Amino acid sequence: MMKISQRSLGMQASPIRKLVPYANQAKKRGIKVYHLNIGQPDIETPKVFMEAVKKADLDVLAYADSNGWEPLRDSIAAYYKRMGLTYETEDIIITNGGSEALQWAFIITCDPGEEILVPEPFYTNYRGFAAPYLANIRPITTYPENGFALPGRSEIESLITEKTKGIMLSNPGNPAGVVYSQEEVRLLADIARDRDIFIIADEVYREFCYDGKSATSFGTMTDILDRVILVDSVSKRFSACGARIGSLTSKNRDVMTAALKLGQARLCVPTLEMIGSKALYDLDPSYFKPIRERYEERRNLLIEELQKMEGVLCEKPGGAFYAIAKLPVDNAETFAIWLLTDFEKDGKTVMLAPVENFYQTPGMGVDEVRVAYVLNTEDLAEAMRILDISLKQYPGRIN
Ligand SMILES: Cc1ncc(COP(=O)(O)O)c(C=O)c1O
Repeated sequence: MMKISQRSLGMQASPIRKLVPYANQAKKRGIKVYHLNIGQPDIETPKVFMEAVKKADLDVLAYADSNGWEPLRDSIAAYYKRMGLTYETEDIIITNGGSEALQWAFIITCDPGEEILVPEPFYTNYRGFAAPYLANIRPITTYPENGFALPGRSEIESLITEKTKGIMLSNPGNPAGVVYSQEEVRLLADIARDRDIFIIADEVYREFCYDGKSATSFGTMTDILDRVILVDSVSKRFSACGARIGSLTSKNRDVMTAALKLGQARLCVPTLEMIGSKALYDLDPSYFKPIRERYEERRNLLIEELQKMEGVLCEKPGGAFYAIAKLPVDNAETFAIWLLTDFEKDGKTVMLAPVENFYQTPGMGVDEVRVAYVLNTEDLAEAMRILDISLKQYPGRIN
């Protein structure tokens, strides 16, 4: 009988995009919607990207190598060296965004039924990357009350079974904006070494750390490099989400051999975007300073305003461009929908991402939302004013 597979039926629809129809309807009614729900930076993509693409006067837009255009891989290796990571061109394969690299990381490390440990709340698409390959995510639960810090070694180790193939960490993290301490990163590295499992290091937000801090990269931990699979992307780093250029990097030859086979099976990634992305990776590191300052200013404003709101709990996050706020509401998704269907202030409303689906454990995060600070400070301030008013009017407000 013709019916679609169980595994495709089992896929989740993106919880981040789930509310889009409600937002579209609000917009049709003439309401201005402030998008705090999605990690699409508003920062201008550096001009060098388009300049490089325009200069590329190709007679034939041919297939590229399956492991990526070599000059781009060279430029990423040089970028890593500037960041203190000793990866060579041969350790790097170009992927269709960080997303494809993460999918491959699940395929390469897990057979069906095997597991990767991931601190929750986690970037909800991790589930979508794992599900088609019947890999499972086992959560390491963290809590807003202590800034989503990792639990101790014994608690993490108690989650490891014979099915556990690795630990995945987004650092700085999406959705909570956590920058894990050097001790936390080292702890995971020690556990991976002692229990002989992989580390999948999602460091696509590497440059977005505030308060003068930086995120410790697994790529600097030379004693475990054979078990590290490093995922990167131009999407957030250079505000080039539409380029769809990412990379998977590893010193482990078996991992790279498998990655190349996966690369060959989909031929290659787009040539022009690789040409543009090389110019991005060649930018001087000073490029990041003003961008970081802009995000830091937004974060400070956002957190200050959220902390002023009665009943709202929000610890100041150290990185990426997200924060999780615990709200005095019965259900954050119902509230987020209500904001789009039943509320407006001066013809405006805000769109938030409910966090429940960023947790794996049922019942967690029901009163939490993720707020992305990808708007300018003026819009962000107005969005906070509107959110404050809406919380006072919401019929499902508790206490
Ligand atoms: C933590 C994290 N990893 C990976 C990605 C994937 O990004 P892309 O496929 O655009 O590189 C995202 C995008 O939001 C993300 O937040």
